[in-house]
Amino acid sequence: MANMADPLKLGVLVSGSGSNLQSIIDNIEKGSLKASIQVVISNNPDAFGIARAQKHGLSAVILKHEDFNSREDFDLELIKILKSNKVELVVLAGFMRILTPVFLKAFPQRIINIHPALLPSFPGTHGQKMAFEYGVKFSGCTVHFVDEGIDSGPIIIQSVVPVYDNDTEESLAARILEQEHRIYPQAIQLIAENKIKIEGRKVHIKTVEKIPPVALYNPPLAGF
Ligand code: GRF
Repeated sequence: MANMADPLKLGVLVSGSGSNLQSIIDNIEKGSLKASIQVVISNNPDAFGIARAQKHGLSAVILKHEDFNSREDFDLELIKILKSNKVELVVLAGFMRILTPVFLKAFPQRIINIHPALLPSFPGTHGQKMAFEYGVKFSGCTVHFVDEGIDSGPIIIQSVVPVYDNDTEESLAARILEQEHRIYPQAIQLIAENKIKIEGRKVHIKTVEKIPPVALYNPPLAGF
């Protein structure tokens, strides 16, 4: 890890819209997130995330997975690009590819992901849809370290949102996405400040104030 005064060097991997990438860019430009995006990589040539990166003058690379014979070959090329850009933290932001152990070994405890549900509930794709259809009263989003499983690594931060009676899958997804845009930069900043220690499944966060001792109810309690 570089000197703490230096911005943390990020490599952001996208496959789609890139709204989380945008939030990271905006927070860096505002000065609230002490990081620099060294490179943005997309496996999808049509990803809007690439246009967002270019608009902000960031280096953007398209790496089509179909051009590779195996997942490992694709991952080796990813590693090459990330290492040559001196990336210290790999940020998956809607990246729709499962990474192989080769990739995980190249960046031990240095890959993070954002998932649109309260893990360990509803891992995999369509987290918002699954939570909505299940009928949960709260859902949310989770930033976690990436391990060999699907959305199963140690949890860094979560945000909880209510599910309302008149919600649709889309309105719930929008409420969750708004929170994603807040907790992802926060998680990266905690890593940049070296405030995170992983012990087994647990991520300990130094010097974070305790959250107030509140409970949330949905629907609200009426006099109980
Ligand atoms: C987000 O919902 C994120 O949780 C999931 O993929 C989506 C990416 O959205 N992993 P965007 O490309 O950042 O807009």
